[in-house]
Amino acid sequence: MSTLNKDQSEYWNGEVGQRWAAYHQALDTAFAPFTEALFARAALKRGQRVLDIGCGAGDTALIAARQVGSGGHVTGADLSEPLLAVGRDRAAREAPSAAPIAWLRADAQDHAFDGRFDHALSRFGVMFFEDSAAAFANIRRSLADGGRLSFLCWRSLAENAWVTVPRDAVLPLLPEVEPPQPGAPGPFRFAAPDTLLPILEAAGFHGIECEPVDRVMRVGETIEAAADFVATRGPVARLLREREPALQETALKIIRQLFVERFGDGPVDLGAACWLVTART
Ligand SMILES: C[S@@+](CC[C@H](N)C(=O)[O-])C[C@H]1O[C@@H](n2cnc3c(N)ncnc32)[C@H](O)[C@@H]1O
Repeated sequence: MSTLNKDQSEYWNGEVGQRWAAYHQALDTAFAPFTEALFARAALKRGQRVLDIGCGAGDTALIAARQVGSGGHVTGADLSEPLLAVGRDRAAREAPSAAPIAWLRADAQDHAFDGRFDHALSRFGVMFFEDSAAAFANIRRSLADGGRLSFLCWRSLAENAWVTVPRDAVLPLLPEVEPPQPGAPGPFRFAAPDTLLPILEAAGFHGIECEPVDRVMRVGETIEAAADFVATRGPVARLLREREPALQETALKIIRQLFVERFGDGPVDLGAACWLVTART
């Protein structure tokens, strides 16, 4: 596999990837309203060949496989072996009417995909490329004539209460060690469409549309589940990582307390905002 995205590969194959693999169900639940919006716009057809970019633990690859049916084909590409392993395992339990899925450990930035896809899609898997221009050009090359691209990426941090509410509560205790740099790989890489549009145009995409999608995210059914969610995945987890255990425990207490004040026994529902980006070849 290519070593272009070495840092991301280490990140998604290390502790973070293991954690996402272990907790994939809670993530799939939290992302469900966005997943629905993605597939409603993608409108996949029976028999299509689909590429899922940064497929993670496979939720969207599995949905695509059901939608295109046994005459279609899905490739789930990801850097992370622990996440692909979850996808493989889940696919083994799918009904025979779903399309076969090839689980591919590959860097979507430069992998020479075998075959041309009718549709490339992604749920939050395209913001981590070292060289986004090269990556989207590669994805464009993987598409057949008339092929389509549909993906979700986060809007700004400020518009995502599921991050800012717990983050603002613990920032005084855990200031950012390394604030994310604009343009660097990360969840909010394409928060501003004017950073994304020229990249997609240069890659050869047409009819590019960025539709804002605002949904309520179920962060957890209970206070404990919600605190666990924010402490183990996403930007708050990043603040907590590699801190003294006592400091982590204090931060968690603050988050739990805040959630109890706002949500009683739960569930914890907070606002989330992303772009649903669509384009064609
Ligand atoms: C935020 S997670 C989303 C996972 C999955 N799409 C989901 O919604 O559950 C980002 C995923 O992108 C993958 N990824 C990051 N950079 C990648 C690259 N260059 N090529 C392929 N996958 C990549 C990561 O390994 C990770 O699984």
